[in-house]
Order: sequence, then structure tokens, then C-alpha cells
Amino acid sequence: MISLRNIWKEYKIDKEITFTALKNINLTIQQGEFSSIMGPSGSGKSTLMHIIGLLDKPSKGTVSIGDKNVERLNDDQLSSLRNEFIGFVFQQFNLINKLTVMENILLPTIYSRKSFDYDTKEKAIEIMKRVGILEKANSYPNRISGGQQQRTAIARALIMNPKLILADEPTGNIDTKTGAEIMKLLKELNKEEKITIIVVTHESAIAENTERKIYIKDGEIVGKL
Ligand SMILES: Nc1ncnc2c1ncn2[C@@H]1O[C@H](COP(=O)(O)OP(=O)(O)O)[C@@H](O)[C@H]1O
Ligand SMILES: [Mg+2]
Repeated sequence: MISLRNIWKEYKIDKEITFTALKNINLTIQQGEFSSIMGPSGSGKSTLMHIIGLLDKPSKGTVSIGDKNVERLNDDQLSSLRNEFIGFVFQQFNLINKLTVMENILLPTIYSRKSFDYDTKEKAIEIMKRVGILEKANSYPNRISGGQQQRTAIARALIMNPKLILADEPTGNIDTKTGAEIMKLLKELNKEEKITIIVVTHESAIAENTERKIYIKDGEIVGKL
């Protein structure tokens, strides 16, 4: 489904100094996988996730989605591919406090240039039921719990029917028990909806919930940490 070949990412610190955040990453993610990218803080997990998610480009190397080499796509093509193919979930939830839960979930459909052959509001209701936040549909994000905020962010990721969900430290801002519930929900979405899911985490207890563990250290994929 997604493959990364000889990916390097360098950040320019100033004129002369570059920092190498990813070193020769080779990685294939198959459709239907439930994987984690695990490594200590600063190891390059978010950088890698941004490249997989087409949010950032590598300095060197090839990213392919299906049989499409992403390099050949222009920015418009990249963003439509991203919007239709990938749902993102972040540690900080990234919800808009001035919008209700329901409005937050519908936001990707408003920004999308795609026309929908289904009623997006009905779909939002169905998804809120699925992730257990229907009774919070008209609440504002700052009035609900962290777990409910993350469920809202997952619902927002689901509204466009993504093939892939990328979750960057999705349990980083919630307590352990709530975090376990979020991981259970992601596991169910992988099994029941057949969505490929990649969870980025620095916690081995979170990675334990996934079927495949990809370890990263100092910008390199390693066999174990
Ligand atoms: N825009 C940037 N400019 C310079 N250095 C960066 C930038 N983004 C990340 N880095 C550096 O790259 C390394 C990996 O960062 P990151 O991918 O965020 O790690 P992780 O998500 O594993 O904590 C860190 O040392 C970080 O400081
Ligand atoms: Mg990170």
C-alpha cells in the first residue's frame, strides 16, 4: 500500500549545519496492517509519519502509494490524495474549540472539493455512534474529556472514509486507562473497517497493542531498541 525506499530527511539548522533526522529508511506498509512506530523522543517518529502522510517531502528517496510514485504529483494532487486516502490523529487532538463536536467532524468534508454521494451529516452521526460520542454532538471540545476529544478527532479522521489512519502519540495527552480504550477503538477500526493504522508512540505498552512494531532510533529503523 505504501512503500518508502532509501528515505533521508535533513533539516537545515543554519547555513553550514544540517541535521539528519532520517537515515536511509526502507519500509513497506501493507493494506490492513495495524502497526506502531516506536522509539524514544527525538528519534524521528513524527518526521517519518509526516513523510508517510504526504505532509512533508523527503530530502532523498522515493515514496510510493499503491503503484503511484508520489514524487511525480504536484501539490494539488498531493493534497487531494492526502484528503481522500489518509486520516490524521494527533496527540493534541487539534480540534477547533469554537466548533461543536459534530462541526469539527464535518470540517474535512467542507474543505474537500470532492462531492459526496452520501449525506455527510448522517455519516457523522453514524460515526459518532461508532466511536461513542453521539451524546456530545453539540458540545464544544473544551467541555468534554480528553478521551472524548480524541474520539472526536478519530471521528473527524473517519468522515472521509480513509484507507489509512496515522496517529501520532494519540494517547500522549490522556490517562493510561483512557489510552487503552483509544487503542482498543483503533484496533476495532482496523479489524472491522479494514483501515490500515499506524500508531506512533514512545511507549512500549502502547506499541504492545499493535500487530507489527517498527523500531526507530536516531533516525534509523532498528531490529529492537
Ligand atoms: N523542522 C525541524 N528543523 C530542525 N530539526 C528538526 C525539525 N523537526 C524535527 N527536528 C529534529 O529531528 C529530530 C527528530 O524529530 P521528530 O521526528 O519530531 O522526533 P520524535 O517524533 O521521535 O520525537 C529531533 O532531533 C528534532 O529536534
Ligand atoms: Mg513526535
